[in-house]
Amino acid sequence: EKGGYDYFMLKEIAEQPKAVADTLLGRIDLAGNLCLDEVRIPASVLREVSKVVIVACGTAYHAGMIAKYAIEHWTRIPCETELASEFRYRDPILDQRTLVIAISQSGETMDTLMALRHAREQGAKVLAICNTNGSTIPRESDAVLYTHAGPEVAVASTKAFLTQLVACYLVALYLGQVRGTKWGDEILSVIRELSEIATQVEEVLETMEPVRELARTLADKNTVLFLGRHVGFPVALEGALKLKELAYMHAEGFAAGELKHGPIALIEQDVPVVVVVPSPRGRSVLHDKIVSNIQEIRARGARTIVIAERGDETVAPYADHLIEIPATPTLLQPLVATVPLQVFACELATARGNEVDQPRNLAKSVTVE
Ligand code: M6R
Repeated sequence: EKGGYDYFMLKEIAEQPKAVADTLLGRIDLAGNLCLDEVRIPASVLREVSKVVIVACGTAYHAGMIAKYAIEHWTRIPCETELASEFRYRDPILDQRTLVIAISQSGETMDTLMALRHAREQGAKVLAICNTNGSTIPRESDAVLYTHAGPEVAVASTKAFLTQLVACYLVALYLGQVRGTKWGDEILSVIRELSEIATQVEEVLETMEPVRELARTLADKNTVLFLGRHVGFPVALEGALKLKELAYMHAEGFAAGELKHGPIALIEQDVPVVVVVPSPRGRSVLHDKIVSNIQEIRARGARTIVIAERGDETVAPYADHLIEIPATPTLLQPLVATVPLQVFACELATARGNEVDQPRNLAKSVTVE
């Protein structure tokens, strides 16, 4: 049932283009119309939403962090993303005009369930983004948008994450649509690129051999650091989480702008640092800032592993290892930038002799608080 792969995780990584395409199917057209009738929160309620709060854990939380960038940029509705386990204990401000989005692959994560129960008690509307039909979280929510990743067996979440991102983008665009936002050319072209993004995920998968080779050479390292900015920051956190849970290595993700506020002290000779570089188009100020971060850490001896858009000439001179990804609109980049990090962590785990599908101390769904 592993379909010829050694591990479920490898199978699930390979299934990502299909999972992404299936999650988009029938929900968006090229003219930019969103068809999410299945989301049974009336348009009149969505038009009144004054704040969006996203709650989730682990990898789903990283998807939620990225969703915040998309929701605020596309809809101008204030959005915050919070770890579900922290949410209800700080008495968050919620009312009937708050839309809470609970993201969960399994639909059974207790922390997320308790957060959504708290939100509903306070009168907020809850939309679940979930991969498991009929599970508890969607059953207890006002509405659900299912991701169509298919069953995810490996403990480390891969295809569910990519489809959670797709679902978040769809919800953001849908919110804009029901609220009558007039899409400019920028968003229309993002919508077009989103509907074709599965091809780009496929392209990334076809170029992963050098990433696997690189991972094998790092099997005896103790630490790997990850840097990103904007939506690349949650991608860095996700890369670090994958490495912790699979390779049992010390891995940390940072917002690149924070380097100078402390983490740069961790840089020493030969420490591998993975840097997710934003597109040189779009938010080019951030691009230039991250290029100087790469120069700074390299000058201090770091071994730089740079994930950058194909054809980005400016980073190449500072990259000890360059991993090229296809050009995408800034907000969609996590869909392609995360894939090499999944492959990297999986290969490192294998090289270290770890059990890939069932890492120590972890369970696929965490049904205790
Ligand atoms: O089923 P959920 O999406 O609610 O699970 C949330 C986390 O437990 C999960 O994403 C966890 O972080 C993964 N093992 C990460 O790969």
